Amino acid sequence: MAPVVSYRDLRKQARRKLPRFAFDFVDGGAGDEAGLDRNEAAYRAQCLQPRVLINSDRALPLKRRFLGRDWALPFGIPPIGLAGIAWPEIDLLLAEAAEQAGIPYVASTPATVALERLRQRAPKSAWFQLYVGKSEEITADLLARAKAAGYRTLVVTADVPRPGRRLRDLRNGFALPLKPGPRLAFDLMRHPGWALRTARHGAPRFANLEPYAERGSSTQSLAQLMAGQSSGRLDWALLREIRDGWSGQIILKGVSAPQDAVKAAETGVDAVWVSNHGGRQLSSAPAPLDALPGIRRALPAGFPLAFDGGIRSGEDMIKALTAGADFVFAGRPFLYAIAALGPSGASRLIAQFASELENTMAQIGWSDLDLQDGAG
Ligand SMILES: Cc1cc2nc3c(=O)[nH]c(=O)nc-3n(C[C@H](O)[C@H](O)[C@H](O)COP(=O)(O)O)c2cc1C
Repeated sequence: MAPVVSYRDLRKQARRKLPRFAFDFVDGGAGDEAGLDRNEAAYRAQCLQPRVLINSDRALPLKRRFLGRDWALPFGIPPIGLAGIAWPEIDLLLAEAAEQAGIPYVASTPATVALERLRQRAPKSAWFQLYVGKSEEITADLLARAKAAGYRTLVVTADVPRPGRRLRDLRNGFALPLKPGPRLAFDLMRHPGWALRTARHGAPRFANLEPYAERGSSTQSLAQLMAGQSSGRLDWALLREIRDGWSGQIILKGVSAPQDAVKAAETGVDAVWVSNHGGRQLSSAPAPLDALPGIRRALPAGFPLAFDGGIRSGEDMIKALTAGADFVFAGRPFLYAIAALGPSGASRLIAQFASELENTMAQIGWSDLDLQDGAG
């Protein structure tokens, strides 16, 4: 098998190893996917200016301070719902890899492992991501459980007022439970590794929501419960209520307009997370890398900014830091890393990103990550 030295290699191998419906669920974007393409293209259009004669004959430091903590690296693993479709209980593998590497891991509301177990695997690194669903009781209970489990940092996702219209999923008829039929049987036959692992561990579950389903209920009713977890109910007043009720830190995720970033800061969140959900919600949304400088300018100096969307390498991360991000996240690459390489995939990807970061810094003459004007 060809060596894996980049994101492209990981994606290619993951595509071979995952059934079509699973790869498409992870890989796909909303509508015509122009937004997904734009997210990645924004990095290709951006140059970094090499600077020379800056003695860098040593390992360059990659640590980064964000929200009051020194992280070993300037990136983390964002919330990914239904990630278990790529590998059974992948959430545990991601949480563990993040904890070992000293980077944040965000447990998602639709995770395939319960938030309590994830927190145990990553007691220093795990944050919890909340979808404000239709049910007030479930939202309140998820928050109470997150608090009881020891989560201090809450990520409230703002950019899912409706489920995204992902045409690949619609064409594949992707829904839980998986619809048996010749198409699914053929897909599974061509991907026996995935099929066997899934048969051994069971189909991915919405583990956080199971306590709210009727006893003995089907995956179908859980899927309906999950559909109720993305609602348009979140507004500024409700965000304020959540702010007042949560004693830890809050990050508002899914912001792409400067006005919304300013409002979020005024509402008392501790950080804004610039993101368009990896192009999965609105194809016409601006690329986060393009939206970032305007948001940075609109916010008070030093206001913490997290960022994601289309990051595929350490070099991309440097571009996001240069454009105004304090801390970055990469989503799909982590699922492809484990789908392609197995359980060690996340740690191997973290090492790959670190090596790309260090190399890029040396090429542009940065002696540490705080010297962002070194790229000018
Ligand atoms: C399969 C998949 C599931 C996701 N599920 C969630 C989720 O449950 N909550 C959330 O806030 N964001 C979710 N996201 C968005 C990611 O947190 C992140 O914003 C996005 O993946 C970044 O783009 P990238 O994949 O290009 O790096 C999901 C993304 C993917 C690819």
